[in-house]
Amino acid sequence: MKKIILTGDRPTGKLHLGHFVGSIRNRLKLQNEGNYDEMYIMIADDQALTDNFDNPKKVRDNVMEVALDYLACGIDPSKVTIFIQSEIPALTELTFYYMNLVTLSRLLRNPTVKSEVKLRGFEESIPSGFLNYPVSQTADITAFKANIIPVGDDQLPMIEQAREIVHSFNRVYGDTLVEPNALLPDKEVCRRLPGIDGKAKMSKSLGNCIYLDDSDEEIKKKVMQMYTDPDHVKVSDPGKIEGNVVFTYLDVFCEDKHFKQYLPEYQNLTDLKEHYQKGGVGDVTIKQFLNNILCEVIKPIRERKRELENNLDYVLDVLKKGVEKANLKANETLKEVKEHIGIDYFTNPNYLEEMKEKYQNPKD
Ligand code: TRP
Repeated sequence: MKKIILTGDRPTGKLHLGHFVGSIRNRLKLQNEGNYDEMYIMIADDQALTDNFDNPKKVRDNVMEVALDYLACGIDPSKVTIFIQSEIPALTELTFYYMNLVTLSRLLRNPTVKSEVKLRGFEESIPSGFLNYPVSQTADITAFKANIIPVGDDQLPMIEQAREIVHSFNRVYGDTLVEPNALLPDKEVCRRLPGIDGKAKMSKSLGNCIYLDDSDEEIKKKVMQMYTDPDHVKVSDPGKIEGNVVFTYLDVFCEDKHFKQYLPEYQNLTDLKEHYQKGGVGDVTIKQFLNNILCEVIKPIRERKRELENNLDYVLDVLKKGVEKANLKANETLKEVKEHIGIDYFTNPNYLEEMKEKYQNPKD
């Protein structure tokens, strides 16, 4: 069985560290291991419009922003097809056929949709386009016959929905579509990186993000604001690790080599945690350490992004070529889907034959 990887992001803002550890890092690993047949990354502008229909400028602008972020992080267009959702008409057509296979109550049960409905204040009247976005996401995935979907755990209900539609489709119309599987980041904490306030997942709307193009000064300011342990007042006080955002981030980003470089008093993270819990390690020490590490992670991404910003023709061309390639594949699947449903009047010579049989040689 071919290995086909597909992921996507809604272009509603620039990418932040939550995206980086939750999906980008995973995608880079997959890309660089090269153990796949096809890999696609989609900028989901149509999906972004389902809850930003009244702010299309935001979506339009962020298509470029997200493309810049992908390329700045090292997504390589010679290995990965990067494309824009709205440029692939087959996705809309597939969505329309799949809608027949899903009930309203099933859509209303989707836990991710439910919490988004609350967040957006859609309780009184949910736009039907929004309610349907899991169906459209199924089209995104199945159009490419993707079977490996690297996502965060908030996307598990979408993959589940896609699998159900694939099963129904194949049962009703015959084997056509491929069943997708989610691929989650190995580390639990990477699936839901908390924001700098420690309260919730990093998210633009909560204002608790560190962006992939933040300056050294911005990173430092944000790290210094991070939630630690409110009872750790004096350096000599014992400190708590659980719920301490600085340690959560160190768990994600810190490697042994960073200690030699930035904090040689301690051997490794276990050693630092032990001392912090005993007392004697100040919050400023751990924050400065984390700041050094994050600056090291973000600096090359930011610099590459600044270069690309002066080369937007190139970026748009990458997207255009990606769209061409994606259309070929998605159109092929759409053709198969229509054949299986039997709505292939002009491309299937049997149609005329069948109708002649029916009208010109009636059995009775
Ligand atoms: N729903 C995803 C998100 O909000 C974006 C997305 C759209 C996606 N289509 C997809 C992810 C297909 C994986 C596969 O992040």
